[in-house]
Amino acid sequence: MSIANIRLEVMKTLEPRIDEFIKKYLIPVEKIWQPTDFLPDSQSEEFYDHITVIREEAKELPYDFWVVLVGDTVTEEALPTYESWLMDVEGIDNVANNGWSKWVRHWTGEENRHGDVLNKYLYLSGRVNMREVEITTHYLLNDGFDPGTDRDPYKNFVYTAFQELATNISHKRVGTLAAEKNNKLLAKMCRIIAGDEMRHHLAYKEFVKIIFDYDRNEMMLAFADMMKKKIVMPANLIKQSGDKVKDTFVRFSNCAQNLGVYTAMDYVGILEKLNKYWELETMGELDEKAEKARDYLCKLPARLKRVSERMKLDTEQNFFSWVNPDGMMA
Ligand SMILES: [Fe+2]
Ligand SMILES: [Fe+2]
Repeated sequence: MSIANIRLEVMKTLEPRIDEFIKKYLIPVEKIWQPTDFLPDSQSEEFYDHITVIREEAKELPYDFWVVLVGDTVTEEALPTYESWLMDVEGIDNVANNGWSKWVRHWTGEENRHGDVLNKYLYLSGRVNMREVEITTHYLLNDGFDPGTDRDPYKNFVYTAFQELATNISHKRVGTLAAEKNNKLLAKMCRIIAGDEMRHHLAYKEFVKIIFDYDRNEMMLAFADMMKKKIVMPANLIKQSGDKVKDTFVRFSNCAQNLGVYTAMDYVGILEKLNKYWELETMGELDEKAEKARDYLCKLPARLKRVSERMKLDTEQNFFSWVNPDGMMA
């Protein structure tokens, strides 16, 4: 059987378990939070008072904070790109409405609330140029993304397992920074989004673990291949009006690194966690190629740590069209 056919077989074998996965890792619509639970009720008499509080609290947060929050929001807002990418993965069939497509739709339903709540908060905060933010989202949707996973379910699940934890870390840290400035509402919002990302991470991490049981050699090669390419962030093509592609992402990443929201050490930390959860150190019964891949992956965290320790931080203040610097240099 060809490699692609074996993958399809594995995906088919797991399909009867989709409802179990949905029940375990996702929350039913009736029970889960919605953006409005955290934002002022526009039907309420106190609506304007609540907005005044939001705007006052927002003034306490510094320039780079808003840049990172905008970047995180835009990343979430480009969800249509990620959904259409996942729907195209081998073994996920939207037209046939198979189990995996149901998973992707339910996952998308949860994810959609993230961009929604953050976008509304940014709009109400009065600290960002919303039109510029909207232009960036529009550009990112036009430009799409390529995580280097091809249509391979194994590589895609490695990517999503990694990425969901990266977003968990990033939202959690933004929430902590907001809490430090006494912005309880934003802190709560970020923490609850981070909680969703964690559940998603646990799900994708579990899918990979199960696949290791069925097809360990190919799963190992797929994991190594993704790490060799490096896990690119979903918004790596993000750009502002008038910017060259990539330039914005580099400067945005610097901002996130300097603020301590998502750093090169976090990247290493995620890899360490994945290696541990998938029990790479002790995984046997591998063919020669997969064994080599396992050894590469086991040594990779230490190697990346050395690289990131040598990395020089670019601490220069960057400005973005999304956030007006006037009166913001707190
Ligand atoms: Fe999200
Ligand atoms: Fe996510």
